[in-house]
Amino acid sequence: MQLPDEAIEFNYQGSLCPHIEAWTPLAELQSQNYLRAEQVDAVKQQMMQVRQQVAAERTMTNPPAKMLPLDSGFIDLPGQMLDQYRRKGENSELARILAASNKLREATDRVVVLGIGGSFLGAKALFDALCHTYHNELPERMRHGKPRLYFEGNNVDNDALQDLLDMLENTCVDPAIKGERWGVVVISKSGGTIETAATYRVFRTELARFYGHSPENLRKHIVPVTGPSGKLRDLCTADGFSDPEILKIPDGIGGRFSVLTAVGLVPAAVAGLDILALLLGASTMTRRFLEEPFERNPVLQYAAVNHLLATEKGKNTRVMAVWSKKLEALGMWYDQLCAESLGKQNVGPTPLTVVQTRDLHSRGQQHQEGKRDKIVNNLYVKGTKHAPIQIGMADRNEDELNTHSRKTLPDVLTAAFQGTNQAYAEAARPTNDIVLPSLSEHTMGQLLQMLMLATVVEGRLLGINPYGQPGVEAYKKNMTRILKDMPGKGTSNMG
Ligand code: PA5
Repeated sequence: MQLPDEAIEFNYQGSLCPHIEAWTPLAELQSQNYLRAEQVDAVKQQMMQVRQQVAAERTMTNPPAKMLPLDSGFIDLPGQMLDQYRRKGENSELARILAASNKLREATDRVVVLGIGGSFLGAKALFDALCHTYHNELPERMRHGKPRLYFEGNNVDNDALQDLLDMLENTCVDPAIKGERWGVVVISKSGGTIETAATYRVFRTELARFYGHSPENLRKHIVPVTGPSGKLRDLCTADGFSDPEILKIPDGIGGRFSVLTAVGLVPAAVAGLDILALLLGASTMTRRFLEEPFERNPVLQYAAVNHLLATEKGKNTRVMAVWSKKLEALGMWYDQLCAESLGKQNVGPTPLTVVQTRDLHSRGQQHQEGKRDKIVNNLYVKGTKHAPIQIGMADRNEDELNTHSRKTLPDVLTAAFQGTNQAYAEAARPTNDIVLPSLSEHTMGQLLQMLMLATVVEGRLLGINPYGQPGVEAYKKNMTRILKDMPGKGTSNMG
């Protein structure tokens, strides 16, 4: 159930031409860069048709070859998982995810999460958004027994990996002490991604060195998440994992659409997040998408307005301006979702994440006065988790802040938010606002699902397949060939 004040809102007034009484230079600029309300009205019927198409794709059993891959399984999955959990209890996939996560949480104080792309970014977004900002630095009692989380295998950085291994070696000395035990969550849908596979090999060896070579010890400290078949599954099976112990990413769900499967749910649950609330938020968004009219449908509004601004007004750089540092990784997750889904056949927006107010001091100039190719989607959280911090009175007033002594940091942020939007409006630079009532599992579930659904809708509007990423294969193929022919010098030679 969703209370109205927990619902995400999307506001696109900042992209619409205001009513103009007389010609002014600003009015001229607005007509060039903003949408007319009639343009949005005109597209509503098409949006309803696309929604119908996306809804119908969920039940297609034999889609024609030109529609493949068709990975629409993510749309109904949150609701299905909750439903199965209610009906089947311990025998449901969600119960297996919770059990494996709890086991690892209880057995360890540090967990390394291995994965890349869609097998990494969603989990990182959830961890950063919802856990304490300094979670890993907190003593165990303040973490309430939840392990520290580290993300690896998402790069090929020799020295960063060695630093992590050094840290583990120096902090985890005695495997008999819980505070010194560590474990691994390894995530790869295909099971063959070299970045993840190579790093897993290193950590598997390290685990065996630390805990001893017994396969049981290995299994106690590793949670594998992978597709129904592949090299990672084979390796884990050979290590003695039973089928249910290898958590499954179901068929019909693409990597970057998999955050609400075991891919994102296991790291989230290990970190102590409420994954049921996440799924509830997501399934509520699916219902809103399928049932609500355009006027109350943030998925259709977001897709329509961003699509129109790109195709009619040339706003092809899509800026996700997050007004909380805790949402930077969410922005990175959206960068991948948007770029890999829509960047095809020479079309698609270029996504860019900025963190405000930080990046007002780096990219702000360009967004205010640079090329007019941008739409700024603000992502704003209304409430704070902690009580507002006051600027306060001070005995020295050289900084002249005593006049603001009763103002709080949320007041400063609100002023910056409103001031930035006003400045963009005065220069006819379009903006939209995604407003989260608070930062919680429930709102994050809604947000993730809203952006995934909107991306699929946009793909269909563009006439491209939002699923699959054929372009990524080019580098992978070359990399595999080059690696095979390489003598293995052990030092990098980028020449
Ligand atoms: O969206 C996708 O499918 C990709 O970005 C994958 O998530 C990424 O390439 C990692 O693949 P895998 O999970 O198979 O290791």
